[in-house]
Amino acid sequence: MNYNIALLKGDGIGPEIVSSAVKVLSAVGEKYSHTFNFTEYDIGGAALDKCGVPLPDETVEGCLKSDSVLLGAVGGPKWDTLPGNMRPEKALLGIRSAMGLFTNLRPAKLYPALKSECPLREDIVKDGFDIMIVRELTGGIYFGERGMREGKYGEEAYDTECYSRMEIERIVRVAFESARKRNKKLTSIDKANVLDTSRLWRKIVHEISAEYPDVELEDMLVDNAAMQLVRNPSRFDVIVTTNMFGDILSDEASQITGSIGMLPSASLCGGTRGLYEPIHGSAPDIAGQNIANPIATILSAAMMLLYSFDLKEESQCIVDAVDKVLSCGYRTKDLANGGEYLSTSEMTDKIIGML
Ligand code: IPM
Ligand code: MN
Repeated sequence: MNYNIALLKGDGIGPEIVSSAVKVLSAVGEKYSHTFNFTEYDIGGAALDKCGVPLPDETVEGCLKSDSVLLGAVGGPKWDTLPGNMRPEKALLGIRSAMGLFTNLRPAKLYPALKSECPLREDIVKDGFDIMIVRELTGGIYFGERGMREGKYGEEAYDTECYSRMEIERIVRVAFESARKRNKKLTSIDKANVLDTSRLWRKIVHEISAEYPDVELEDMLVDNAAMQLVRNPSRFDVIVTTNMFGDILSDEASQITGSIGMLPSASLCGGTRGLYEPIHGSAPDIAGQNIANPIATILSAAMMLLYSFDLKEESQCIVDAVDKVLSCGYRTKDLANGGEYLSTSEMTDKIIGML
């Protein structure tokens, strides 16, 4: 088969890690006789420098006509002082919204070989953990009304959280379906003791749970969830939550897998086209040094093969190769604990060698 993939390399370490994933995809293509065609488009700070806007129209059009999209990361100190709607991050929100990507899957699992890199005590992670975070991606406070105004005490800023029944229903269904295919346990995370949006969320979650009697459902408040994640991560199977809570909890979950450099993500719209990106940022401090961990992006490419192209065996082949490389003791700098480590390109070659 022939697949057209749009590449949004972005800023910082983005170009390095996307190049790594492209190499892996090409090797998989060779092994299984698929052709992956890649077309690059500008996004983020790189687009600002070149075209004056963080998300040029050609980029949106290119993504919408591709079969799928692979993204590196956006942002950096150079663009940090720009107004909100001109920041590189705005491009990420813009492309998610333009592609209708309301589902964000962020799997956080502890590779057995990385147990010693996990900052949690050995007895807490002895059974490992494998969590699928289902984050709502195109609603909530990220996309609500915001602004500046003159208040009682002078200058004020506000951001609002709004969720419609439709937005909640569709993400909650995705989460129940995911739980059904996994260990049949769903934790819905909200702040229903304070927020109206959370109370509507919780009500709808319970309505929909009637359609999934085989899935065990629990509600959890977000502050408690933040604690449970480090107290007993293996208690979770699938988590469903709002855009902002999902953003925060997925960073926490990533760190207990050993490094934020390990976590891939898939952003989906209900169709086959998706956007795949590591959950980490552009890491400007280590950009261009060939020391970034490419695994999150390589695993994001594996998610693309699975969710967009339905290439199960090809996808698993990448995951297994990562597993083997880690089991052999190879590490990138973020995972090396001050010990010996491989460069970005060496790690990429090791993974390709194991395919
Ligand atoms: C993420 C990032 C983005 C988000 C930022 C860069 C806008 O933190 O993908 O987790 O908050 O969604
Ligand atoms: Mn984030």
